[in-house]
Amino acid sequence: MTKKLFVKTYGCQMNVYDSERMAEALGAGGYEQIDTPEGADMILLNTCHIREKAAEKVYSELGRLRPLREANPDLKIGVAGCVAQAEGEEIMRRQPLVDLVVGPQTYHRLPAMMEAVDRGEKALDTDFPEEDKFAHLPKLRTPKRGPTAFLTVQEGCDKFCAFCVVPYTRGAEVSRPADRLMGEARALVDRGVREITLLGQNVNAYHGAGPDGEWGLARLIREMAGIDGLDRIRFTTSHPNDMEDDLIAAHGDCDKLMPYLHLPVQSGSDKILKAMNRKHTAEQYIRLIERIRAARPDLLLSGDFIVGFPGETEDDFQATLDLVNAVGYGTAYSFKYSSRPGTPAAERKGQVSDAEASERLQRLQALLGEQQRATQDSMVGRRVQVLFEKTGREPGQMVGKSEYLHAVHVDGPEDLRGEIAAVEIVASRSNSLAGRLI
Ligand code: 5AD
Ligand code: SF4
Repeated sequence: MTKKLFVKTYGCQMNVYDSERMAEALGAGGYEQIDTPEGADMILLNTCHIREKAAEKVYSELGRLRPLREANPDLKIGVAGCVAQAEGEEIMRRQPLVDLVVGPQTYHRLPAMMEAVDRGEKALDTDFPEEDKFAHLPKLRTPKRGPTAFLTVQEGCDKFCAFCVVPYTRGAEVSRPADRLMGEARALVDRGVREITLLGQNVNAYHGAGPDGEWGLARLIREMAGIDGLDRIRFTTSHPNDMEDDLIAAHGDCDKLMPYLHLPVQSGSDKILKAMNRKHTAEQYIRLIERIRAARPDLLLSGDFIVGFPGETEDDFQATLDLVNAVGYGTAYSFKYSSRPGTPAAERKGQVSDAEASERLQRLQALLGEQQRATQDSMVGRRVQVLFEKTGREPGQMVGKSEYLHAVHVDGPEDLRGEIAAVEIVASRSNSLAGRLI
């Protein structure tokens, strides 16, 4: 009899990829994935530790699962991902509901861990093992896929930004071998995938072993662009200091590389950038953006910002607003600084009050919101190519993404799913564009 698995994913796209691979690893052990926690034999929370709020969600979600466990004493509950890595032993101590804790680098061991759990034991594994987990995971099994997929090409980070837990929860930077990635990309395309987003905490630092020496991200993208049936390539998240010339050039001359780039800067103040250990100035970032836009003028730029980093004054914050005005973002994510245990910034003096950080966040988000609105509105009247993914909210509607990652909906038949079609944009709505098939 097959058992039912429910996986809930928090945080970044790398967690989305990991959740798929964990489900596949457990699939080999007889688990079939379902979409709701009700009726599950096993619930796995794949967690995020990046900010305090994200981490707290785990504990509140575990509280919500209690009635399910009371109704079904055989229900197994596992915690995976970065909270598991950082706080696994404490979770086991504090939450008797939890049967299993697995970190991001050991989930290839899940089937064996589940055997222990099925015997009534608790299982915890948050090692940073010698072996490559990907080499020990089952081959991609899911027979039919939607038209888009994520593919993790590198994990971990050696940058040690002063605020960030990633170097501790995900470990040192590791790039996967290029031939395996090419194989995985081909396997995805065979299953109907037409767009692949290459993932890494620091994806443009990719330097994997290739058949003829080391490949950088640009080489990997160019080789993948040679795969028939793969129409679109994206990558995320990048660090400004790893935007090398060949990657910038690829934005200009590789048709399958989409004109969208997420390139976080975090702050516009040189003093704060230095305190963050970002190792570049605001001016260097602005010059870099100019070079990328020279290669691809219509590129839609996205970013991440942190306000209220320790020591940030009103002048420093103003410098961030100035940078946003100078650069112009099509979309962006902005956060209040969250002090993370074990990171260098957590120990620093000059912590900014929550009220002040909230106020700055509001002002920054107002500016970024205006830019996002203006970028989206400027699409009206333009022709874009849309990769259709699913049916829309209204009957007869189909929804997909443009080259610029805008959600676009049109009136059209369901067999558009998985197709790329030319669309004229006719209106800009709150979070999407309305278009007409040409
Ligand atoms: N506090 C607030 N935001 C953070 N980020 C990373 N660590 C923290 C933190 N401690 C943000 C950065 C990063 C994004 C993924 O999350 O902007 O680019
Ligand atoms: Fe964290 Fe990104 Fe900085 Fe690495 S580059 S430490 S993942 S914010």
